[in-house]
Amino acid sequence: MAPIEKAVVPVAGLGTRMLPATKSQPKEMLPVGRKPVVQYVVEELAHQGLKDVLFVTGWKKRAIEDHFDESPELVERLTGKRQWRLLDVLNDAQAPGMNFYYVRQRTPRGLGDAVAHARRFVGKDQFVVALGDAIIYGGAYSDLLRRMMDVHLRHGPAATVAVERLEGEELGMYGVVKPSEDPEGGDFALADIVEKPSPEEAPSPFAVAARYVFDPIIFQAIERTPQVHGEVGLSHAIRTLLKMGAPVRCVVLRPEERRFDIGNFGSYFKAFLFFALRDPEYGPSLRDFLRREVGGL
Ligand code: UTP
Repeated sequence: MAPIEKAVVPVAGLGTRMLPATKSQPKEMLPVGRKPVVQYVVEELAHQGLKDVLFVTGWKKRAIEDHFDESPELVERLTGKRQWRLLDVLNDAQAPGMNFYYVRQRTPRGLGDAVAHARRFVGKDQFVVALGDAIIYGGAYSDLLRRMMDVHLRHGPAATVAVERLEGEELGMYGVVKPSEDPEGGDFALADIVEKPSPEEAPSPFAVAARYVFDPIIFQAIERTPQVHGEVGLSHAIRTLLKMGAPVRCVVLRPEERRFDIGNFGSYFKAFLFFALRDPEYGPSLRDFLRREVGGL
């Protein structure tokens, strides 16, 4: 199979759980440490050689397009002031070498529907989906996507899904997969997905983790997946794939890799602190500040 070169980043959701922060700005543009969430996602794609990126965008999401545009006014201003370090920061934010494309999901009808908007962009190619509100941390850069693409090309399933080992209540926030073979060893075949199970119902400790590789057959599965409360879920579409008899595999995040979802304020606060505490310039003083603050609580 040809190497995978295309990625789809859905960013069209309304971010209602993070109101009022998301009233007039995209959730995907909220800063985590120094960078907006979606910049981490694009850097992860760039690092794995995925240069053609389609954003599925929507209402009030223009700031994402602006963020990756070149900004001659800023370059001129920073050059005039000889602020070379900031020029580097600006250059990194513009993700040089990447090609960005945009399609609008006019009504946010769920993640499955968002992915369906990528049909023309994808054509007959295998492609990556990376959720625009989730960071995968793995030191400087995680090679999760590389492992997923390798597994996908080696086994040829209809979908390869990243999963993270979680415990307790956290597990119930996501789709949880039921393996059909021994899950030890980093990747395994999947028998089913249960959406947001109670702890007793969870078929394994493996929760779906915001990164996917798909064959274009996913578009047929999305078409055949009924809406629930006006939305087509991506986990439901993967279930449809399984019902169609198409194989699906999972790749497990390594213990040193972590997924940070910017879905609600609880997970956002944790993500911000995690990255801010590791900031080379301000991390040490933030750690002192936190020690004092936590001591006073
Ligand atoms: P979420 O379901 O976490 O985001 O989608 P949301 O719908 O914006 O959040 P709430 O529930 O209203 O608080 C995960 C990712 O998928 C995108 C979102 O923008 C987010 O990056 N998404 C979601 C779409 O592109 N379209 C949709 O219809 C739904």
